[in-house]
Amino acid sequence: MKKSELAARLLENNIHLLKCPVCGEEMTLRELKSIVCMNNHCFDISRTGYVNMLNKETKTKYTAGIFLSRRTLSDQGFYNPLLEKLFGIVLERKLGKIMQPLFILDAGCGEGSMVSGLVDKLNLVSDSYIHATGIDIAKEGVQIAAKNYTNCNWFVGDIADMPFGSKCFDVIFNILSPSNYSEFRRVLKDNGVLVKVLPGEKHFDEIRKLIFKDTMKEEYSNKEVRKHFENNFEIQEEQTIRYTVQLNRKTLHHVIRMSPLSWDTDIEDNNVDDIVHLKSVVFDFVILVGERRARNSTYT
Ligand SMILES: C[S@@+](CC[C@H](N)C(=O)[O-])C[C@H]1O[C@@H](n2cnc3c(N)ncnc32)[C@H](O)[C@@H]1O
Repeated sequence: MKKSELAARLLENNIHLLKCPVCGEEMTLRELKSIVCMNNHCFDISRTGYVNMLNKETKTKYTAGIFLSRRTLSDQGFYNPLLEKLFGIVLERKLGKIMQPLFILDAGCGEGSMVSGLVDKLNLVSDSYIHATGIDIAKEGVQIAAKNYTNCNWFVGDIADMPFGSKCFDVIFNILSPSNYSEFRRVLKDNGVLVKVLPGEKHFDEIRKLIFKDTMKEEYSNKEVRKHFENNFEIQEEQTIRYTVQLNRKTLHHVIRMSPLSWDTDIEDNNVDDIVHLKSVVFDFVILVGERRARNSTYT
C-alpha cells in the first residue's frame, strides 16, 4: 500500500481529532486523498503521507540535515534512555487502567522518531487502541517523519494554533521544543497530562564550554522554562535523566550538526578546534509531568 494511502487509512479512524485551520469546522476525509471541511477548505495528503495544515509559508532554522542527524542518533540508540523513561510515564499513568483508547500528541515532533518509537513500544504491551499525532512547523522534519514512520499521522502546523479539536488528547509530549500552554490546555482532555522534556543544565556541557568559553553562555539554566511550565501546569512528577554517550568521528559530526549550540557559530573561526577531539558528551534531560491548572490560577 502507498504511504499516502496508509496515512489516509490511519486518519480515517481519527478524523474527529482535526479541525479546519481556516474556519475551525470539523473535517472529513475525501477519497483517501485529502481532508476537507464543510466550507471546502481542503488539505491534500502528500505522497509520503503528511498533511500541511499551515496557512502560510514559514522558514525555520531547522534544515533537513539537522533532522537527519537527529534521526541517525536516534537510530544508534542515543535517545533510548529518554524513550524508556517516557514509556514508563505513559504506562504508569494511562495503560495501567481499564483498556481505553489512548490519543497522543507530539507537539514539536521534529523528525518523529521519539513518538513513533513510543507507539511501537506501547503497542507491544497494550491491548488498547493507541493513536499518535505529530505536529511540527518545519516541513523538513515532518517530511522525514512521514517517510520513515507510518504508525502515526503527521502534520505541518504551528503549536500556537493547532488544527485539532478541543479536549482530544490524553497525553501531549513536548520534547525539547517550544510550548504554547493555552493551546496545550485547549486540546488536552480534562484529565490529560502534559509531558515536557527540557534540556538539563549539563546537556551537551562539553560542547557549550568549548564554543562559549569565557562568555555569558558558558552556563545554561532551565529555570525560566521550568517556571513558565509551573505557571501553567501543576507539576505532578519530575525526573532527571543524565547519561554519557561515547562518540566517534561520525556521531560527533551528527551531535554538532544537530545541536542549536553550534548553529550561529563558525566552529573553525572561533578556535574551537578541540571540539573534534571530544570523545564523549553528556545527555541531560529534565522531564516535567503536569496537569492543567484550575481555571482561576494565574497564567503568564
Ligand atoms: C530541538 S527540536 C526538537 C524536535 C523533537 N521533539 C526532538 O526531540 O528531536 C525543536 C522543534 O520544535 C519545532 N518548533 C519550533 N517552533 C514551533 C512551532 N511554533 N510550532 C511547531 N513546532 C515548532 C522545530 O521545528 C523543531 O522541530
